[in-house]
Amino acid sequence: MKIGKLNHIGIAVPSIEKAWETYKNFYGVEEKDITPIRGMEAQGVKFSFVNLPNAQIELIEPLGEKSPILKFLEKNPAGGQHHVCFEVENIYEARDTLVAKGATVLGEPRIGAHGTMIIFVHPKNSDGVLIELMETPKEAH
Ligand code: CO
Repeated sequence: MKIGKLNHIGIAVPSIEKAWETYKNFYGVEEKDITPIRGMEAQGVKFSFVNLPNAQIELIEPLGEKSPILKFLEKNPAGGQHHVCFEVENIYEARDTLVAKGATVLGEPRIGAHGTMIIFVHPKNSDGVLIELMETPKEAH
């Protein structure tokens, strides 16, 4: 198992709409570079992507009382960098390799925001950074 492309940087925010304004006003991002807000009930987040030439920024906002990012936003009320996502060829191979090496993989492989399988790896195994691994989408998106 070897990580491939950086796919996106996850940024937790109290309001995606407000974060859009940040990227538009300060950083020149245009409306066409931003994807509509969608919800993933099972994961407890709403999300929108800001498309950059070489990667994406994933803005995530809590959805529901059990959202896994509520605690993060309590500690970081203005928002903050939440995770980094790398692409891998096969999520089960990645999971099995990591587990065999003693890493803590959070939850079972599941469908992520790009419609491909994802896992998260505990920050304690990656120098304090929460790592998301996602299978490379089979077709261009
Ligand atoms: Co992500």
